[in-house]
Amino acid sequence: MKKYFVIGNPISHSLSPQLHNYWLKKNNIDGLYDKEKLSERDLEDFFLKIRDKKISGANITVPFKKEVISYLDDLSLEAKSTQSVNTVYLENDKIVGHNTDISGFQIAMKEIEYDLRGKKIFIIGAGGVVSSIVYALNKMKASNVILCNRTKRKAENLKDMFNNLTILDWGEIPDFDMVINATSLGLKSHDEINLDFSKTKKGKFFYDIIYNPEETNFLKKAKKLGCKTENGKKMFIYQAAESFKVWHGIKPQINDEIISLLDK
Ligand code: ATR
Repeated sequence: MKKYFVIGNPISHSLSPQLHNYWLKKNNIDGLYDKEKLSERDLEDFFLKIRDKKISGANITVPFKKEVISYLDDLSLEAKSTQSVNTVYLENDKIVGHNTDISGFQIAMKEIEYDLRGKKIFIIGAGGVVSSIVYALNKMKASNVILCNRTKRKAENLKDMFNNLTILDWGEIPDFDMVINATSLGLKSHDEINLDFSKTKKGKFFYDIIYNPEETNFLKKAKKLGCKTENGKKMFIYQAAESFKVWHGIKPQINDEIISLLDK
């Protein structure tokens, strides 16, 4: 039986096993997908198991998306350009790192029919997933990508990777078409982002990478302002589907049953 893992720290909240095990079963693949909480010193051992074919593939989540690169032999263009890996597989005895967060976000935007071309995008946060979002926004031809992070240095580091970024101080709100919460604020139900969007005009698009809880305070407030909202559930499902395709060569089905698997 083939074994797959999602590794991170913390990891208990991860819903990836529900998705992958559902698809493995549906496609009659003799495999099992599990989650494992690792610390930094466990990484070497984990990647040895991939090399020895004891593990067939892995998803990588916070805080290891960049760190794992030193254990890999090869990177896809997407992983290299973002310095972020969320999918690992073995090919011709080489451990390859790939990034499906990018296509996950892109497919989610297509699915909700939001055309990024010529749009001004404001990103809040500079954590592990943000380089993938910026890469996707550039691919989708957004006209401006403006970013702020509580710790400005981390935002400036992203500018080294993407020179079209505009970095603002925390607290500044630019003119935008779409704002993306890419911070971890909202994971707890009482979390509030201390930025003032009260002057935002109706019809803007508020997007939260968080999908659990389904509606963060960031999205609740946006609705009250008469703005369009969307959570990160579709992005999460599509990044998983893209990983599944990499490992098994099959495009897994996405249906209401899948979506309800994540509603718990
Ligand atoms: P990592 O930083 O390890 O990649 P992450 O969950 O991907 O982890 O990112 C957390 C993001 O949420 C960061 O942008 C973080 O801001 P800092 O870089 O300043 O830490 C942001 N964040 C977390 N708590 C926050 C808070 N109370 N106020 C503002 N931003 C916060």
